[in-house]
Amino acid sequence: MTSPIRTQVAIIGAGPSGLLLGQLLHKAGIDAVIVERQSPDYVLSRIRAGILEQVTVDLLHEAGVGQGVAADGTVHHSIELVFSGVRHAIDVHGLTGGKVVTAYGQTEVTRDLMAARTAAGLPTVYEASSVSIHDFDGQRPKVRFQKDGVEQEIECDFIAGCDGFHGVCRASVPEGSIKEYEKVYPFGWLGVLSDVPPVSPHAIVYGNSERGFSLCSMRSMTRSRYYIQCSLEDKVDAWSDTRFWDELRRRLDPELAERIVTGPSLEKSIAPLRSFVAEPMRHGRLFLCGDAAHIVPPTGAKGLNLAATDVKYLSSALIDYYKDHTESGIDNYSTRALSRIWRAERFSWWLTSLMHRFPDSEGFGQKVQDAELDYLVHSQAASTTLAENYVGLPLDFAELRA
Ligand code: APR
Ligand code: PHB
Repeated sequence: MTSPIRTQVAIIGAGPSGLLLGQLLHKAGIDAVIVERQSPDYVLSRIRAGILEQVTVDLLHEAGVGQGVAADGTVHHSIELVFSGVRHAIDVHGLTGGKVVTAYGQTEVTRDLMAARTAAGLPTVYEASSVSIHDFDGQRPKVRFQKDGVEQEIECDFIAGCDGFHGVCRASVPEGSIKEYEKVYPFGWLGVLSDVPPVSPHAIVYGNSERGFSLCSMRSMTRSRYYIQCSLEDKVDAWSDTRFWDELRRRLDPELAERIVTGPSLEKSIAPLRSFVAEPMRHGRLFLCGDAAHIVPPTGAKGLNLAATDVKYLSSALIDYYKDHTESGIDNYSTRALSRIWRAERFSWWLTSLMHRFPDSEGFGQKVQDAELDYLVHSQAASTTLAENYVGLPLDFAELRA
């Protein structure tokens, strides 16, 4: 083994959570080393959602990486809901006193953060294997890993577990110290990325039809992202591009179906839908962040945004610890983050329940869903609830009443 690396915060995982945390800590003069299991190209090849709340855009600016989203993000003032073959606009901007969301892909966010980290010469160990974490219940936590066959150790003050749902950090917490809440949905999303102009460049379209859910989103004016609800038994290979486009058209209103521009898929994949929360998010000197602690179904586009706000709460807490020698921030991190997470879990579950066809919801269940959709687009109170959650709740809930 080489001599130990010494840092203040060891960050496990170089997804958006780990990279954003690294950047915010760097801005505050706090040292961190990031250890990532995969290569940079692999991390960038994962296609995920791409709708940013204003809080997330603000954080990217605070971290000094806001140029990309400012130049290439597309601001949306509304969303549209299609049901019973008719499209209805929800004026998110008007209903929230001027708030918006921005379409900018997670891949682009990750690339911007990686570039900033490289430019600042900050240490990231990619393709680290056998990553393990130790002694986080004491004062001197350690991280061990192998790089190019050589065993290495990091000694640190804190470990940030930013290693996603399948990471090592949550799995290292003793079973009795963590409580997990989970809901698995009886369907998946089949997603296609294609270099065609988006059918709806100014509003994300969410559809609920007899054939199932559909979603029209975008990455840029020349790149579209579309999804349809599919069975969990479905295989990607069974979905030719033609079959996908035909099915998507059948789930939209006639005008959109007519307007959609189709083309070859750049990426096509099936993702299951899950709600998951692990509590608490602090275990001694280990903090869980982002997908390591919670998963939302993608319907509300909250996954990346929640990861960003966890990171904001954690970076503020660590900055208070190092600058002011106060522990109240790190003591409150889990409670503060979970309060916002459960609100987003509730919203994501609700929108998923409203917009999908469930195998067991014929008859009464379907009638109630129809009535709720109708109420939602005709009641300003109901539309406002949707809009307020869609743009993202404030970091501090007291602001909601203001
Ligand atoms: N050691 C080191 N790195 C690991 C390990 C491990 N044992 N296990 C996983 N990782 C890495 C993964 O390779 C990945 O790059 O941790 C990173 C976690 O990244 P994400 O899964 O993207 O999670 P996070 O950064 O929290 O991003 C939040 O919210 O729902 C979403 O789609 C959204 O992925 C996005 C996210
Ligand atoms: C996406 O653009 O990938 C996207 C948009 C909205 C969602 C989910 C995913 O709710």
